[in-house]
Amino acid sequence: MKKKISLIGAGQIGGTLAHLISIKELGNVVLFDVAEGIAKGKALDIGQSTSVDGFDINLKGTNNYEDIKDSDVIIITAGVPRKPGMTRDDLLGTNLKIIKQVAEGVKKNSPNSFVICITNPLDIIVMAFQKYSGLPTNKVVGMAGILDSSRFKYFLSEELKVPVKNIECIVLGGHGDTMVPMLNHTLVNGKPLNQLITKDKLDDLVERTRKGGAEIVKYLEKGSAFYAPAASGVEMAEAYIKNLKKTLPCAAFLNGEYNEENVYAGVPVIIGNNGVEKIVELTLDKDETKNLNISIKAVKELYKTACKIDPDLNN
Ligand code: APR
Repeated sequence: MKKKISLIGAGQIGGTLAHLISIKELGNVVLFDVAEGIAKGKALDIGQSTSVDGFDINLKGTNNYEDIKDSDVIIITAGVPRKPGMTRDDLLGTNLKIIKQVAEGVKKNSPNSFVICITNPLDIIVMAFQKYSGLPTNKVVGMAGILDSSRFKYFLSEELKVPVKNIECIVLGGHGDTMVPMLNHTLVNGKPLNQLITKDKLDDLVERTRKGGAEIVKYLEKGSAFYAPAASGVEMAEAYIKNLKKTLPCAAFLNGEYNEENVYAGVPVIIGNNGVEKIVELTLDKDETKNLNISIKAVKELYKTACKIDPDLNN
């Protein structure tokens, strides 16, 4: 039996997700969007590519929540993206309202799915989605750490002229300007970074990673990054569907891990067919701990703002 994957939001990331999922034959796809034409048009377009590429997948575009019924996986990108000069946090008010509607639709029609949020500001939106929907925390995760880590890896690979696959690294914390590339957990061809790059150059690459999304927003002028965010979301969906028990950096609910509780933030998690099966606690040095605390504090502060915008989040 094929899995069912519903994509809430059929914009730039939603459409790319649908295409990647089809190519990988991960499951049949429902593309949902308030703009019905976009969802239907993209489903039809990708559907018409299936015979060329020879993959056996059904796609449906819709603006009816009943069509997402009993999905195995739901990936949410509904919302507005950034414009040049905006931070992710500037999207809060608008995307909070949108996520409330989405949470109602998911809760009513597909409460047993594994839900991956991509809408920004990520950590707040995933936390609000979990609160609004009441779905269990192990079945609600946010996509950010894979993207941020992959950006850092890419910059390191360009700088050091090393293939990306020879670089191991992980970026944790909130998906914003305070995100934390874990420098002591970064290896290039198995060697620690301090043997390969000057501190100044490394500081530049860390800063470029933190601003990686804004760099693309500036180039595109309309809209934000979508290829790498979609590829990262698909990796999480695949780990769940295929029960890969893969360790991936994701925004997950912390309940005492890393001395934090009642907050979503980017940490390494094991994803298998029970959703988030375990949060992996890395041994962090003093600086890494300090920076992770600063980043999680920023998430908590923004969540307080969200609670002021919608007091329902306090319930
Ligand atoms: N329900 C469903 N879909 C909605 C709703 C809603 N209430 N409101 C808006 N949408 C749809 C829009 O019609 C649009 O097609 O969400 C889609 C968003 O697509 P894009 O504008 O192309 O944005 P995208 O680049 O895909 O990014 C989506 O992910 O990375 C984040 O910051 C990014 O928050 C943004 C989100």
